[in-house]
Amino acid sequence: MCKKTYYITTPIYYPSANLHIGNTYTTVAADAMARFKRLKGYDVMFLTGTDEHGQKIQRIAEEKGVTPKAYVDEIVAGIKDLWKLMNISYDKFIRTTDDYHIKTVQDIFKKLYAQGDIYKSSYEGWYCTPCESFWTETQLVDSKCPDCGRPVEKAKEEAYFFKMSKYAPRLIEHIENHPEFIQPESRRNEMLNNFLKPGLQDLCVSRTSFNWGIPVTFDESHVIYVWIDALSNYITALGYGSDDTELYKKYWPADVHLIGKDILRFHTIYWPIMLMALDLPLPKQVFGHGWLLVDGGKMSKSKGNVVDPVILVNHFGVDAVRYYLLREIPFGSDGLFTNELFIKKINSDLANDLGNLLSRSVTMVEKYFDGVIPAPTAKEAIDDELIKLALETPLKVEAAMDKLKIPEALDAIWDLVGRANKYIDETTPWILAKDDSKKERLGTVLYNLIESLRFTSVLVSAFLPVTSEKINEQINSELTSWDTLSAFDGTSAGKKVKRGETLFPRIDLEAKIKEFEALSQRTKEEKAPMQPIKEEITIDDFDKIDLRVVKVISCEPVKGAKKLLKLKVDLGGEERQVVSGIAQYYKPEELVGKNVVLVANLKPVKLRGELSQGMILAAATDDDSVLYAVNPGDLPSGSQVR
Ligand code: ME8
Ligand code: MG
Repeated sequence: MCKKTYYITTPIYYPSANLHIGNTYTTVAADAMARFKRLKGYDVMFLTGTDEHGQKIQRIAEEKGVTPKAYVDEIVAGIKDLWKLMNISYDKFIRTTDDYHIKTVQDIFKKLYAQGDIYKSSYEGWYCTPCESFWTETQLVDSKCPDCGRPVEKAKEEAYFFKMSKYAPRLIEHIENHPEFIQPESRRNEMLNNFLKPGLQDLCVSRTSFNWGIPVTFDESHVIYVWIDALSNYITALGYGSDDTELYKKYWPADVHLIGKDILRFHTIYWPIMLMALDLPLPKQVFGHGWLLVDGGKMSKSKGNVVDPVILVNHFGVDAVRYYLLREIPFGSDGLFTNELFIKKINSDLANDLGNLLSRSVTMVEKYFDGVIPAPTAKEAIDDELIKLALETPLKVEAAMDKLKIPEALDAIWDLVGRANKYIDETTPWILAKDDSKKERLGTVLYNLIESLRFTSVLVSAFLPVTSEKINEQINSELTSWDTLSAFDGTSAGKKVKRGETLFPRIDLEAKIKEFEALSQRTKEEKAPMQPIKEEITIDDFDKIDLRVVKVISCEPVKGAKKLLKLKVDLGGEERQVVSGIAQYYKPEELVGKNVVLVANLKPVKLRGELSQGMILAAATDDDSVLYAVNPGDLPSGSQVR
């Protein structure tokens, strides 16, 4: 018989250099779902990746003076490292710069154009670069982007449009007939009432004002709108439109697109309409989770509130971080993150409840039975409640997970942990141990505790995989499959337990917060270590670089690029235009009349549409907080720097 399949996706992330702990939520939650379904025996495809095109990326790269591809390559490597650290078990990682993706997106665009769903016209409106979103005048709120509140830019250009309105009635019908399609339900009503029912405008799906995107094959000056590009990843990753469509046939339609509530509109309106136009089945569900509210979204150094996932994992372990994320974002609403709440949760749920249950149980088996797990030969009525709850818990967890109510699944598991701890207090094994005639009863109590831990270990394995393994080692269990939870007798009497390290050491809250405060203070004050000296070159290598003294004749900002200045410089008989990323450090008028050093034989490039013939030398701190253009003194223009 064929295994049932389960296809779950995260959004593909924008390459961002500093992801805070909240940003990691979608992927950690999807990982828990994917692991859970594997545990249940499904054939799982778990897709994640990166969304690498668009004006925003092009701008950042230009400001850094590197190509967009070089810029994203570095960030994507960092994102992959982060997912490794967070123990993310994705089956496939797609990059929108992958060749197969580019080709299929081009084919999709061409097909939609050929069938008349995409047409050419001209566009006038407002564009929010950080959100990569177009808005009409009426959609703006206080003349700002209605999504993020940031300023928008006027845009008018020739563009391709997608006839969204054509498919709106079908989509409304689908949403109304499939209550499970958009979850949670409140978000479904929002989409229907705020976006679909008032009437859909045709969507502008190409741009000509920048080129870091997928070119329209039949009109090369246009690049495809980044959301058309990005959303397609869910099928291109499966080989849709390629020579090998096996994965597509196996896994599409997706069981769930797990996304943050901020991008629900794209996933429940544009994406289904794209699929309808392509005559493909719609995903079974789009789930828009709430947000983890993190101290203004930034690592707030003053309060010592660390939100960098790498630092948090290094201090508290990956499972503590996963636990907090998974337990604290309630179904459908937002959660809160502070170091204090986080540490309190580790201490109560992980160190106290779970950690103590394990260490007390294993210690007692060692102390009273030389570490050999006793057989449960003397049952009493009081055991039934624990056993009944243990047997019910997998069903509760499953029911919660089927609705993506991850915190509820963890609630159910922690009810079992709590019940087992209470069972210790009720049965008082240390008193039983004083009476030789109670030996069998004591053995039964300890057996029940170890078996409860085995249940717990299997149940938490989707959420806290490292912890689950540590529990298995200590209770010496190899029974890790879901099926073993159908009866409360999986633990083999006669096996030896092995006490190990404390699962979650108790954290001294005050001391830790102080440590974090000091840490952020230090990182502020400490000088960064010196950058290593680059690989040795010969004098001949150096001689290839032609450095010249030039005088700045005029200087002005580059429109729309916050960091760029456009300089006219005199090279002693020749005038050059240079674009330089120094607008943060110099007002244009400050540079006029100054002598600077130019790399005069650097291959010219275009930055934000402006020709740059060379590069100005500057000295800067590692974090770019201070920068000075190198001052060559009063030498005549054109002088060589050697
Ligand atoms: O939106 N709490 O990518 P992205 C919880 N490239 N989730 C959060 C969060 C927070 N504080 N901050 C961000 C994009 N997220 C597009 C997707 S898909 C075809 C293209 C979530 O990197 C956010 O809601 O901005 C989203 O689900 C994910 O992080 C990636 O966001
Ligand atoms: Mg976003």
